[in-house]
Amino acid sequence: MHKSIIALGIESSCDDTSIGIINVDLKDNLFTSQGLTSKKIGLVTVSQDKLHKEYGGVVPEIAARAHSERIDMCFKKVLEQSKVELDSIDIICVTAGPGLIGGLLSGVNFAKGLAFSTGKPLIGVNHLVGHALTPQMTNDLSYPYLILMASGGHCQYLAVCGANKIERLGTTIDDAPGEVFDKVAKMLNLPIFSGSEVEKYAKKGDKSRFSFPLPLVNKNDCDLSFSGLKSSVRRQVDYLAEKQSGLYVNDQKDICASFQEAMKLIFENKTKKALELFSKVSSEKEVSFSLAGGVAANETIRHSLKELCKELNVRFSAPPLDLCTDNGLMIAYAGAQVYLGGYEDSLGLSPRPRWPIDVDHQKPIGFGKRGRKV
Ligand code: KG4
Ligand code: ZN
Repeated sequence: MHKSIIALGIESSCDDTSIGIINVDLKDNLFTSQGLTSKKIGLVTVSQDKLHKEYGGVVPEIAARAHSERIDMCFKKVLEQSKVELDSIDIICVTAGPGLIGGLLSGVNFAKGLAFSTGKPLIGVNHLVGHALTPQMTNDLSYPYLILMASGGHCQYLAVCGANKIERLGTTIDDAPGEVFDKVAKMLNLPIFSGSEVEKYAKKGDKSRFSFPLPLVNKNDCDLSFSGLKSSVRRQVDYLAEKQSGLYVNDQKDICASFQEAMKLIFENKTKKALELFSKVSSEKEVSFSLAGGVAANETIRHSLKELCKELNVRFSAPPLDLCTDNGLMIAYAGAQVYLGGYEDSLGLSPRPRWPIDVDHQKPIGFGKRGRKV
């Protein structure tokens, strides 16, 4: 019997090609109520920010091509960095969805090639489950816990009761918050169209100068909405640009600060409601709350939710910033849990661009004609 297994995780669902390797300790934690003890061995992530910048958003065809051109190189580099031989890897985990089909195909085909040539088990991982389990990698966090997963494509409150037992308590009914951060950066023509840039500008801005709307905060559930906030920022930018024939740097900073403040208030309000709902699901005395996804890297939002938890006597944890954004380690970690739960995929594994984390959940309001928001 192995004392540990080495898991390889491949992530290519959006615009980061990332491959990580972890060692999972099997000694004391097989199928307890906790996550697994794991140790990072190596991680290589190549961002595509520069390739998409001039288009103001991720272009799926460019992303797909870049993933297929770089995935080999990432794999070679991560083996070199971690000094692990391909032979020593026990399982091959790959994001199979949800995400952009071209990128998913690059990752899944690469993983299938590896699994076929080595005979090692192949595990298709749900990207959202990867984010939802990430806080366990760095915190002593046992099931069940509540997590806010907020990224460029998703926003959900999830009751995580096990690796394959995740219940959605609330979701965005329109845009994802990271997507809105990116669009605000673009409207303001910041040097990089990303939430981290908005955060940088917000640090020096006046958050009380503009009062942006807080959609759905008066509703007594934990569904969220961001498109009204995005439109309101758009109108303010257009108004100032016309009135002054352009925007000043101070305007950019103040809009970033006021917008980020609105985001913070929405998350504070909705997290309170999600915690109320979660306390009905969880029978534990100590309630745990965690964060995941790229938006969780925002220090203002992190800090305010930490303070909220302190006030409500809820245990707070959040992954380090580099594990909040997309990475291969979270896929290796989630894949290891799936594998140890007795599941693996065949070489017939296909990508699932739409793969809701809990298929049985009722439709959120705003269920669009292209299907539910995942
Ligand atoms: O989880 P992630 O890496 O990829 C997706 O699965 O979407 O999240 C990326 C998103 C982007 O929209 C990015 O602008 C946002 O997370 N983000 C941030 C920050 N860092 C990344 N948003 C707000 N503040 C940040 N510091
Ligand atoms: Zn993600």
